[in-house]
Order: sequence, then structure tokens, then C-alpha cells
Amino acid sequence: MSTSAERREELRSVFEQARGCTRCAQLASTRTQVVFGAGNADADLMFVGEAPGAKEDEQGVPFVGAAGKLLDELLAGVGFARRDVFIANALKCRPPGNRDPLPAEIDNCRDYLMEQVRLIAPRVICTLGNFSTKLLRGDTTGISRLHGQAEIVTIGSRAVRLYPLYHPAAALYTRALLDTLRADVARLPALLALDLPAQPEPIVEAVLQPDPAPPSWAPQIDDGSDEPQLGLF
Ligand code: URA
Repeated sequence: MSTSAERREELRSVFEQARGCTRCAQLASTRTQVVFGAGNADADLMFVGEAPGAKEDEQGVPFVGAAGKLLDELLAGVGFARRDVFIANALKCRPPGNRDPLPAEIDNCRDYLMEQVRLIAPRVICTLGNFSTKLLRGDTTGISRLHGQAEIVTIGSRAVRLYPLYHPAAALYTRALLDTLRADVARLPALLALDLPAQPEPIVEAVLQPDPAPPSWAPQIDDGSDEPQLGLF
């Protein structure tokens, strides 16, 4: 198990890779910057949204627009601030005009999210809305059937409690969804207090494999002088 400092270092290195990513030609050409994610690299609680919007693309930080304000307020209601959690998205680049992410884009971006989950190793992951819920459950069941119901899923080599929530952007416009989202979020502290789920047996063979060659899609590292937006605590 790596130390906190090593984990931050590794996260920074994944961020550097993502910053130069051109796997989605359209998104790479229309984004202002990659919105990697921000928060506490040692967080027990991680949120995964859909994709950056205009404000996030401009500032390089997830959930800084209206939906983000609501997320902050919901977090504060259960005693959390941003520095206590880690917030990321299924897509690290803004889809033009805020269109829905395409399946190929979600697939292209998946490894960055998997690396974030592996390194942060949260106890609970809240998926926000349909896209991240379907991605991390590997299933097409929609959020209206799943919200507020925690389940144990294996992501990479770790078992984690997944807790799907309505997306705050949806709750901004529909009162009933907001009430439901508040009630679901109110159960988060109890969920975090549960024991860690039983972990799968480590795959010993993996240790014996030679280092794999870098993947063919390995993104370029952008050596531009712009400040990276990785708000790590
Ligand atoms: N909606 C998301 O899903 N993510 C953001 O970062 C902002 C809005």
C-alpha cells in the first residue's frame, strides 16, 4: 500500500497524462482544459459526475457551476467540505454544447477514472446521475431505480460501496428530485461508518508479470506553461 505522498505523486502523474490526452479528437479540440478532478487524495468518499460544463471547462475544476453549489450545500448538510472528499467526472473534457457523453468517449476516458479510484481507494463512491452509475455498475439500469441504494461492487481489484444519487443538475429543476437527493445524501454518514467490504483475494500472478508496455493510446504530456488545475489536499 502506498503512502499518502506517493498516492498524490501518482495522481499528479495520471493528471499529467490526462492533460495531453487526444483520444477523443473532438473533445481535445474543443476543450479549454482537461478537468481531471479535485479534492482529498485520501478521501473515504468520492463523487463521480458526468462531464465538465462551461464553468468547469473554464476553471479546470469539477462542479463549480450551479450544480456544484448545490453539491457543496448538500455536503455541508452532512458535515463535509470539498477538502474532505474527492470529486471527479466520467469524462474529463467538456462535450461541446454540454451534449451527452458518447459511449466511445466514456470508454476512452475510463482508464483515468479507474486510476483515480485505485489511487484514492475510497470506501464509498457516489455516482451522480445515469452516466457514471451505468459506467461503474457495468449495467444499463437507470438512476431512478437505483438511487439511494448502496451496493458493493468490485472496481479494479477493490470492493467498494457504490451509492448512486440523482445528479444535482437534475435536482436543480425538479423539487421532488431535490427532496429525494437530500434524503439520500442524509444517509451518507451511516454508510461511511460501515465496515470496509470484504476485499477480493489479490491476484498473485500479477506481481510476477513483466512490466507491460505503455498502452498505444498513452497520451502526450503537455509541456505548456499553463498552471495545472489539480486541487489536491
Ligand atoms: N456536471 C457534472 O456532471 N460535472 C461537473 O463537473 C459539472 C456539472
